[in-house]
Amino acid sequence: MQAPASLPDKPKNRLPREAYVSEDWFQVEQSQIFSRCWTFAGVTMDFPEPGDFRTIKAGANSVIVIKGADGELRGFHNLCRHRGTELLEGCGNAGKTIVCPYHNWVYNLDGALRGVPAQRECFPDLDKKSNALFGAAVGVFRNLVFVNPDPDADFDNWLSGLDQVPWPHDLTSTELQENPDNVVYEIECNWKVFFENAIDGYHLAYLHKDTLGGPTHDKNLWEVFGQNMIWWSTEREGVKHRIPQFVENSAKGSGLKTVKNAETPGYGGVYMLFPTTILTPNPWGFSISTMEPISANRMRLRVRNWSPKGWFTYTHRAADIPGYDAETGLIKSSHWTKHPLETGDFQTEDVWVCEKMQKSMQSPRFEVGALAIGAGGEAAIDFFQQTVLGLMPKQ
Ligand code: FES
Ligand SMILES: [Fe+2]
Repeated sequence: MQAPASLPDKPKNRLPREAYVSEDWFQVEQSQIFSRCWTFAGVTMDFPEPGDFRTIKAGANSVIVIKGADGELRGFHNLCRHRGTELLEGCGNAGKTIVCPYHNWVYNLDGALRGVPAQRECFPDLDKKSNALFGAAVGVFRNLVFVNPDPDADFDNWLSGLDQVPWPHDLTSTELQENPDNVVYEIECNWKVFFENAIDGYHLAYLHKDTLGGPTHDKNLWEVFGQNMIWWSTEREGVKHRIPQFVENSAKGSGLKTVKNAETPGYGGVYMLFPTTILTPNPWGFSISTMEPISANRMRLRVRNWSPKGWFTYTHRAADIPGYDAETGLIKSSHWTKHPLETGDFQTEDVWVCEKMQKSMQSPRFEVGALAIGAGGEAAIDFFQQTVLGLMPKQ
């Protein structure tokens, strides 16, 4: 898939306003981007037993990832081959087979059609072999499971060497615990606004001066791995580091427990996996955020966090995050009780500014000006936009 090989020296804005506000544009993205790219589907520990499954939305596709009797993880489109009914909902264990709730067609966990009620009378000519579930591709990288609705998609090509970058985290470690709370933000912006904010190195020292405290544009770095990017802070004599100095100092003062091997040098601080996955490993744990585009103007951000045991008893509870709506369980700007810049929470600051960008984009006068040069400026935004454009139909 087309992505430039490196960040541009002279970045410029390449996407029109319509890319962020038009439902027509969004529908094209559903088929051209999310139906052909890799979406985070869970971690290997979500699938301990044969029959364990999760259903995943990948753009307009519903996809199943399920563990077979042979222990293999496989992906299928969540569609019955009879008349297309959705087969499974949410996550759970399907048992030894997948049974369609409509007319009870039965599929093996490897997708093969196994049984059709009253087949001899109702479907005398049916060839079961050609009616297996439609396949989807599954890839696993460091216990992270990804799915692609395109069964021929090449996972290694997508990783493009990203799996060679040092990584100290062992998700299977018993010292770690996953946050039991569901943390789901509903954000009133286009998914690309959120993505571009996440790779904007220029804003860290300004919008987040009280929370992340930088680094400044010359002290942070994005590097390209295929369509993906990894971020490092270079505040310490240019050495690649996984976290801003300011954050490390405040965390050290708090006495938080670090994960084993936290001192592994060279691992990144933010991994932006195109198009919708954000990994943020750090010495105190790591989180996986998945963007779920809902419409041109709205998205959800689903966050899973792991940290050394004990951490979640006193921090990171969903209800403590600014904007938590007890009725829906979602985190939304409409439920903020104080100004985002007074929350001390950088994620809230980001949501605030993304929604402000989206509001501006409703204006026909909206226009993007110059972009800051450099891998710690806004060059990554140009790279991302070229990646998006490379997947869209040629105008
Ligand atoms: S639609 Fe699935 S069995 Fe008929
Ligand atoms: Fe930010």
